[in-house]
Amino acid sequence: MGALTGKTALVTGASRGIGRAIAERLAADGALVAVHYGSNDRAAQQTVAAIREAGGQAFAVRAELGVDGDVDTLFAGLEAGLDGRPLDILVNNAAIQAYDATVEKATREDFDRVFAVNVRAPLFVIQRALPLMPDGGRIINISSGVTWFATPEVVYSMTKGAINVLSRSLAHTLGARGITVNTVSPGITETDMNAWLNEGESARRVADMTALGRHGQPADIADAVAFFASADGRWVTGQTLEVNGGLFLGPTGER
Ligand SMILES: NC(=O)c1ccc[n+]([C@@H]2O[C@H](COP(=O)([O-])OP(=O)(O)OC[C@H]3O[C@@H](n4cnc5c(N)ncnc54)[C@H](OP(=O)(O)O)[C@@H]3O)[C@@H](O)[C@H]2O)c1
Repeated sequence: MGALTGKTALVTGASRGIGRAIAERLAADGALVAVHYGSNDRAAQQTVAAIREAGGQAFAVRAELGVDGDVDTLFAGLEAGLDGRPLDILVNNAAIQAYDATVEKATREDFDRVFAVNVRAPLFVIQRALPLMPDGGRIINISSGVTWFATPEVVYSMTKGAINVLSRSLAHTLGARGITVNTVSPGITETDMNAWLNEGESARRVADMTALGRHGQPADIADAVAFFASADGRWVTGQTLEVNGGLFLGPTGER
């Protein structure tokens, strides 16, 4: 029996990247997983198929976040798949980066779009999930190391700062129900969002500034999420865990 046997989970943005790895890990631990995605049907079906081939249970839910009616669409699909079961674990993972949204080039449209997907959607997904969630449930929000190291893409970073605040605030509010709320904050991880990692010397440069000498893989993040989702994480709430192999721990150079 797995650590999550009998539990259910919703992972947003689970068709690819970190979300897919989280969905696979929670399913491997025994949870029935709702694999949410925005538009990439093929990737979502591949994730569901991979989970089922490994002996797990999953179903796909398509809903573009950041648009009118997004949460209604998501929960219609989620509740159909859960078929009357509660939602024990919610992982808010889906997000978009906007490489052009720097202080010089950001537009109001960029700002509204990135905040709608990365901040507004998680808040209202949580609001809608709470009535389905039993006491003792788990909420894990995916943030980013850009909340503590500076990058030019300031709008994206601002959204992740908001996610950290959301988690801490809700951990306090929802403690009365025994629901834990934590943040997992990946470092530089190899996904479609970071296609630049495959360009030139990028991977080596990231390895040089990381204590453990490489960039992250989605499964590195998923394993940390699984801890917060499990019974072992029951006494941890309101925390942000940096899962980054020791990124920027000190000066680079000879070791
Ligand atoms: N990769 C990194 O280095 C890194 C570092 C720090 C933090 N993070 C965070 O980790 C999380 C996952 O990132 P990732 O790199 O795995 O991303 P990714 O590879 O770009 O995958 C994004 C996922 O989110 C879904 N998605 C994106 N926009 C959506 C929308 N508007 N509505 C619904 N679904 C949407 C995508 O669905 P479709 O397949 O349908 O498009 C996909 O499943 C994000 O919160 C990100 O900010 C990533």
